[in-house]
Amino acid sequence: MKGVILSGGKGTRLAPVTLDYPKQLLPVMGKPILFYTIEYLLEAGINEICIIVSPETGSLIESAVKKKNFPASFEFVYQAEPLGLAHAVGMSKGFIDEGDDFVVLLGDNLFDKKLKSLITTFKETDASSLVLLKEVDRPYAFGVVQFDSETGKAQKLVEKPKTFVSKYAIVGVYLFKYEIFNAIANLNPSARGELEITDAIAAQVDLGQNVQTSILDSFWYDTGTLPGLITSNTRLLIANKNFDNRGADVRDSYILGDVFIAEGSIVQNCNIMGPVYIGPNTVIKNSTIGPFTSISENTILEDVEIQQSLIMQNCHLEKTKIVSSFVYKDTKVKDHALVLDEIFKGNNLCKTY
Ligand code: DAU
Repeated sequence: MKGVILSGGKGTRLAPVTLDYPKQLLPVMGKPILFYTIEYLLEAGINEICIIVSPETGSLIESAVKKKNFPASFEFVYQAEPLGLAHAVGMSKGFIDEGDDFVVLLGDNLFDKKLKSLITTFKETDASSLVLLKEVDRPYAFGVVQFDSETGKAQKLVEKPKTFVSKYAIVGVYLFKYEIFNAIANLNPSARGELEITDAIAAQVDLGQNVQTSILDSFWYDTGTLPGLITSNTRLLIANKNFDNRGADVRDSYILGDVFIAEGSIVQNCNIMGPVYIGPNTVIKNSTIGPFTSISENTILEDVEIQQSLIMQNCHLEKTKIVSSFVYKDTKVKDHALVLDEIFKGNNLCKTY
């Protein structure tokens, strides 16, 4: 079985960060979101992976993945325009062997579920397709599915429904047989002008094919918005409790709760309230950090207060308070009274939602 990760698209909901940087490489707890999805596949024994990328940011994804040396082989397929998820899946046709099954993941979704058990269900039920679902409060923002609760068989799928169909949203995890490419070939663009993978699977249901569902009862986050990014970071920090601080240089500081400080980093005269992740080669002085905060590598923080935020690499922040915000890489901020619910890129504050 092979794996396909969809990492194209324009990432408009995280603009301007995503104008020239892929949202799939934004770090959550110091690690690009895409790397979590690659690890989900590796954990399930899938080590032949195709990544669909966009022309604008594909080369950044390619070099980041290659640099990491995952124990897997990768093929990068460039999707010229973001014509929809079904179009993106269709671009992987040459990578999948005829008659073979495959897993599709969205490169901006994080979840807590072992793919192995889904693959077993897919095989045991001899399904044409299988989708992972999660009960949500705002079903209108997703693809949703009505299904038979006894057999798990999907009865109706609608992408971003205008009226209520079901409270079960499609999480970005799909298992397909090769035949999905036939359904994709017969699609017409949706109202938003995209070829929807939800419509391709709905067509299979209409033809009486066996489309199975599986319910996710643990966390799932679409990281494609600022609240999604911050919440994913918070949840992963809570889930990773066994942090190890050996190797960090901590001086005159108060450390409470689960705090990871990478080797080579210096923390001096600070209060750090976990859960907090601090990446390598970072210097933090006279500051209060946490809870629910991740700071990537090579960053300098002086006289700052940071809560529930993500700071990317190579930043220099001074005399600033940052709450529920995202600071893009290479940013320099000084003397800001409060940065609240913002994306900070370069020297600009950019409200995005
Ligand atoms: O997050 C789950 C939802 O993902 C599902 O509930 C929906 O049924 C599904 O359509 C999808 O909706 P979104 O509108 O959130 O998809 P988004 O545009 O964010 O794209 C998801 C991923 O696929 C993202 O990593 C970008 C990539 N992508 C997207 C498009 C439109 C591509 O690679 N190519 C594309 O053409």
